[in-house]
Formats: sequence, C-alpha cells, structure tokens
Amino acid sequence: MQPENLAYALTQVVHNFGAAALIGGTVFWLWPTPRQEHARAFAWIILAAWCAQVASGILFGLTSLHYYGETPDLSAVAMVALVIKVCSAAAGFLLGARYLARGKDWGQGQVKQLFQAEAGLAALALTAAAFLRWFS
Ligand code: HEM
Repeated sequence: MQPENLAYALTQVVHNFGAAALIGGTVFWLWPTPRQEHARAFAWIILAAWCAQVASGILFGLTSLHYYGETPDLSAVAMVALVIKVCSAAAGFLLGARYLARGKDWGQGQVKQLFQAEAGLAALALTAAAFLRWFS
C-alpha cells in the first residue's frame, strides 16, 4: 500500500462527507418545510462542514507537496473551478458565522434566505468540484 494513496483517500473521506453534510444539511433543513426550531443546530453543522472542506482541501495540496514536492499543475479551467470552490467556502462560512453570532433576532424569512444561500453555494462548489477533477 502506498502511503500517499492512503493520505489522499483519508482526506477524500473527510472532503466527501463534508460535501454530503453541506448539501444534505441545507436541503434537509429547507425541505419539505423549513425546520425553523432547529435552525441554529443546522447552522453549526453547516459551519463545521465548510471548515472541514477548507481544511481537507488544503490537506490535498499539502499531501501533494509532501510526497511530490509540488502541488498539481492545474489547467486554466481547473484553476477557475478551484477559485470558485474557495470563494463559495469563504462566503458560506462567513454567512453562517454571521447568523450564529448575530442572528438571534432574525425573522423566519431571513433565516430561510440564509439556508437557501448556503444550499446554493454548496451546489456551486460541488459543481466546480467536477470541473476541478476532470480539467486537472
Ligand atoms: C477551500 C475550499 C476547497 C478546496 C481548496 C478544495 C480542494 C479540492 C481538491 C484539491 C480536490 C481534489 C481534486 C482532484 O481530484 O483532482 C477536491 C475534490 C473534491 N471536492 Fe473540494 N475543495 C474545496 C471545497 C469543496 C466544497 C465546498 C465541496 C462541496 C460542497 C467540495 C467537493 C469536492 C468533491 C466532491 C471532490 C471530489 C471530486 C472527484 O474526485 O470527482 N470541495 N477538492
């Protein structure tokens, strides 16, 4: 067994479950009807999932650096996809953190908009992941 393959696979496990938590968590909160009474609990899960994506995304790069001495040579399309993922994660994290820090008095409509935005950003990042994968 090659250690770098194990490192990539374990990182990918975190990254895959993070993506599942983002899409699953936001959609499950919104559908079929917003679970307003559990909004903060779900917002924490989604915040943790954004953190897991950023940390495991960085770990992919560090694993490449450690085993090959360089990060993968990305094409222009892959680079745009990566930038989209990083921006989605940053925006998703900031939105969630703002709600958790200052959203106690938010109305139901505002909270629903937050989860819609989080779902949209997660879907955008997941779409970009496909382009990063196949244009690398
Ligand atoms: C800072 C944010 C992120 C970074 C730096 C990052 C980085 C990466 C890297 C380097 C890979 C491996 C690419 C390859 O196999 O060639 C990857 C794969 C993947 N990422 Fe991310 N990612 C980030 C955020 C996200 C988010 C927010 C999602 C989903 C909501 C996501 C979903 C995926 C998926 C599903 C794969 C596997 C793609 C495949 O192999 O088919 N990533 N990511």
